[in-house]
Amino acid sequence: MTSYAEFYRQSIDQRDDFWATQARLVDWQTPPQQVCDYSHPPFAKWFVGGTTNLCHNAVDRHLADRGEQAALVAISTETDTERSYSFRELHAEVQRMAASLLALGVKKGDRVLIYMPMVAEAAFAMLACARIGALHSVVFGGFASGSLASRIDDAEPVVIVSADAGSRGGKAVAYKPLLDEAIRQARHQPGAVLLVDRGLVPMELESGRDHLWNDLRAEHMDAQVPCEWLASTHPSYTLYTSGTTGKPKGVQRDTGGYAVALAASMKHIFNARAGQTFFATSDIGWVVGHSYIIYGPLIAGMTTIMYEGLPTRPDAGVWWSIVEKYQVTHMFSAPTAVRVLKKQDPAYLKKYDVSSLKALWLAGEPLDEPTAQWISDALQVPIIDNYWQTETGWPILTLANGIEQQTTRFGSPGKAMYGYHVKLIDEATGQELTEPNQKGVVAIEGPLPPGCMQTVWRDDERFVSTYWSTIPGRQIYSTFDWGIRDADGYYFILGRTDDVINVAGHRLGTREIEESISSHPNIAEVAVVGVADNLKGQVAMAFAVPRDATGLEDAAARMKLEGEVMKQVDKQLGAVARPSRVFFVTALPKTRSGKLLRRALQAVAEGRDPGDLTTMEDPAALQQVRSMVAA
Ligand code: PRX
Repeated sequence: MTSYAEFYRQSIDQRDDFWATQARLVDWQTPPQQVCDYSHPPFAKWFVGGTTNLCHNAVDRHLADRGEQAALVAISTETDTERSYSFRELHAEVQRMAASLLALGVKKGDRVLIYMPMVAEAAFAMLACARIGALHSVVFGGFASGSLASRIDDAEPVVIVSADAGSRGGKAVAYKPLLDEAIRQARHQPGAVLLVDRGLVPMELESGRDHLWNDLRAEHMDAQVPCEWLASTHPSYTLYTSGTTGKPKGVQRDTGGYAVALAASMKHIFNARAGQTFFATSDIGWVVGHSYIIYGPLIAGMTTIMYEGLPTRPDAGVWWSIVEKYQVTHMFSAPTAVRVLKKQDPAYLKKYDVSSLKALWLAGEPLDEPTAQWISDALQVPIIDNYWQTETGWPILTLANGIEQQTTRFGSPGKAMYGYHVKLIDEATGQELTEPNQKGVVAIEGPLPPGCMQTVWRDDERFVSTYWSTIPGRQIYSTFDWGIRDADGYYFILGRTDDVINVAGHRLGTREIEESISSHPNIAEVAVVGVADNLKGQVAMAFAVPRDATGLEDAAARMKLEGEVMKQVDKQLGAVARPSRVFFVTALPKTRSGKLLRRALQAVAEGRDPGDLTTMEDPAALQQVRSMVAA
């Protein structure tokens, strides 16, 4: 058996041989002729000449060996339902969905926007798109009309798949009115809308445009839609994510590279085998849902569990009851969820037999030591932190226990994963930092390994200028995270270098929130910063300058305006982006040249020392913030 160090070295030094071996983990219709074409950096093309299909690898190829095994179990503690689909049943449902999409005019290369709660039909829709070579663009159900409209305009979907409603804490959350409003706001108009009617809230259908899944499903009950063999480089999906500017970026993924990367990660990182059960508590609207609820586990021939509901309802034992019932072997969640559970009665963890679990993987935000220790004591399995991004699609830093069992180091997500040539770069000089324990920007020397983003959807220029300009003249991808590496190669992540914040594992751009708040008629100017929070990791806090402050000395008037601003964010972006507080100030802290001093603002909001303020225009602006936050 090779050591991980050796495995990693091979992946970097003999890149093409290494990935040619990994490529055998998936089925190809035509084998690739070239492993990696990096003739036009930073654009990497993986497995050139090969043709394959993600849906074939996730579904069809398992029919022979495990057709009757559960492939997808959709559990909702909101509607009290559990639906299990064998690979054979999933195959049939996906073909019905694929036939329905084709009937609605979707063709290879077209986009299909999916705005859905965590129901099995969302998985059918994603796999159906993959099957016919259409690109899905899943928009998180927690986003509201404004966010949805901007994504509709960018993706220009031919069809939108949605539902009457989701449900949260036992209350139906209507999706259809938000979708209707988004389509009203959007410039681009979809040809058709396909709706899953869960019977949660009444829906008004627009004739000619809206279709019910139940009707189309019935029409296509016996549909046989073969997998479209796609070039490895054919885009499989776009997924929007936030960055420094207000406009979200469509992260574009390929087909073959993604299939290989996920298959390899299931083997080497998760040490998983066909027939085992994977339970990721994320949402299909996020990258974890794409890679580790849908594609990764299914490609590996595992049973995957899709969960709609809270971790605490009907009680805080619900996830462990699922682990016991379905003999879950691999569980994947986020630190915030564990912190939520930690506040509940620990007896819930003792109520169920969780001995089937091999490990718990946590990602999406920093994992603090007390949280890791608590869940590790409770479950008695390894707790494995893993660090990655929407852009990369699979872990950059973690432990590859499938290659070599390594000890976790609390506070560190682990080591550089095979294929990622991770470097730390000094921001000031652009030099690589090679000594242990130096702080730099976590960066990856190109090419990015298979499975990572190909480009920004329809914006190659933005891909290059956003990610690849940290060091002029060098093909180095920036993660926009600070990090350090210890003498043994373990990395520690120290927060973002840009204006992205992380609320309960949800990545949000502060600029987007600022744009939404500024569109309120009584807001002249606003700054949003991420402030440390014990439960959610960070929360968004807004500091706004009103146009007309008359009457705002009155607390009730301030509360009313604060409520209005929050409602506006809820309506445009969704409750996930709602700031925890909106403070009204007379001025924002700026430099003499007018640059907002975000870091100083954030420091003061967290009760820290803001550091050097010699360039500051008006020190009183910060003093005002200090007294408000302290009050
Ligand atoms: O800042 C890092 C943080 O989340 C960002 C990526 O978020 P997203 O695109 O939503 O992808 C999440 C995929 C798991 C990163 O740039 N982040 C992610 N994982 C960790 C983390 N920060 C610390 N530790 C982690 N394990």
